[in-house]
Amino acid sequence: MDKARIGVTGLAVMGRNLARNFARHGHSVAVHNRTPSKTKALVDEFGHEGTFLPAETPEDFVASLERPRRLVIMVKAGAPTDAVIDEFAPLLEPGDMIVDGGNAHFADTRRREAALRERGIHFVGTGISGGEEGALHGPSIMPGGSAESYEALGPLLEDIAAKVDGTPCCTHVGPDGAGHFVKMVHNGIEYADMQLIAEAYDLLRHGSGLGPAEIADVFRTWNTGRLESYLIEITAEVLAHVDAATGKPFADVVLDQAEQKGTGRWTVQIALDLGVPVSGIAEAVFARSVSGHADLRRAARNLPGPSRTGGAGEGFADAVEKALYASKIVAYAQGFHEIQAGSAEYGWNVDAGAMATIWRGGCIIRARFLDRIRAAYEADPATPTLLTDDHFAEALGDAQDAWREVVATAARLGIPAPGFSTALAYYDSLRADRLPAALTQGQRDFFGAHTYRRVDRDGSFHTLWGGDRTEVEA
Ligand code: 6PG
Repeated sequence: MDKARIGVTGLAVMGRNLARNFARHGHSVAVHNRTPSKTKALVDEFGHEGTFLPAETPEDFVASLERPRRLVIMVKAGAPTDAVIDEFAPLLEPGDMIVDGGNAHFADTRRREAALRERGIHFVGTGISGGEEGALHGPSIMPGGSAESYEALGPLLEDIAAKVDGTPCCTHVGPDGAGHFVKMVHNGIEYADMQLIAEAYDLLRHGSGLGPAEIADVFRTWNTGRLESYLIEITAEVLAHVDAATGKPFADVVLDQAEQKGTGRWTVQIALDLGVPVSGIAEAVFARSVSGHADLRRAARNLPGPSRTGGAGEGFADAVEKALYASKIVAYAQGFHEIQAGSAEYGWNVDAGAMATIWRGGCIIRARFLDRIRAAYEADPATPTLLTDDHFAEALGDAQDAWREVVATAARLGIPAPGFSTALAYYDSLRADRLPAALTQGQRDFFGAHTYRRVDRDGSFHTLWGGDRTEVEA
């Protein structure tokens, strides 16, 4: 019997749909699951879609793969990934590849890659975005690992990835953990984008007094313009949905406590280590965290503040659209800054423009906007920030009055808008001639002799604050 071109172990919905996607593209696929009933169910239900080779044992699974073996593991990130690697690695030979398609932490991926490299096995930490539908119909795929492994694996992954203008949403991101790092930042940006959209909804709801169905229409209109994206599209769907049990808007019957599985938090933790200000992503993570603190919210409910209802004035929806676009530019600029900082730190040589290219389709943050980012990097691959790209600078300039008005209105009405506010603060911080960081330096020198640099001379200095306040060279 012919061997399979690729194998998938872990047949929960993502693994199952990925296996079907390979099969539908004419690639024979070996399938395996710890509980064999899932393997059987997959073949029974979808066997007609292509060539599946079901295997009950790890040994049979590995034996059914053509060499070099391409083995995709789709299990819950963390200890289960290590367990599966420990189970399969002894059955593999040098040159074979293990592809981890879960949301692993890139540091774990680096560790696993190094350990398997010693044994001649390629470990390919791969970000896959797009949820279950994406896995089946074309996700955005972010593989790390060796260039050699991409030669054997890339064509298959590019086949099953989403396509935009004929270009697959898949490329070799860089060595070892680069793929999972980029997927992590993708998710951080996803958090920021979702938070900004949520704030726009809240402002329209309470500032303009619109109902969820009316706001759904506003989002539908926005989705025909520069904000066109999957997240805006599904936001309109969610807002228009009516709860069958109560007849109320769905948005009003869902508990307002947002959960998270960790990738957004990792993006912020790593940004702190790298010294990259990803304030938009951080506020999005904290906003979820605040929402979940029911006890704090209950305790603080009666604190004084303005009424949150009405008073936003004419043309507010247009102003919110501008504030959303401007804040989104900032959030993405911060995420791309983190990718570039991570790439420099770990020597990955990640092509930022290529990341924007493969995020145009398939993934959760897919958007027309990403083609603008691709173009910005094409125009200036070394740009320190996307904010200064001609298109984005013009859009920010055009939006800024409205942006300030929206942030001021939010503050005046007592509507929390941490994403919009922090994005504007970042914009103004970068624009500022002088920041009060000079005063911070003075304070540090005063209480701890931490020294400071001067604008007019090289070197480090300290003022004798406790003495005659002369300045000495440090
Ligand atoms: C994707 C998503 C996905 C992620 C979910 C849930 O790119 O397909 O990012 O990988 O797991 O969005 O994330 P949270 O539970 O942390 O919101």
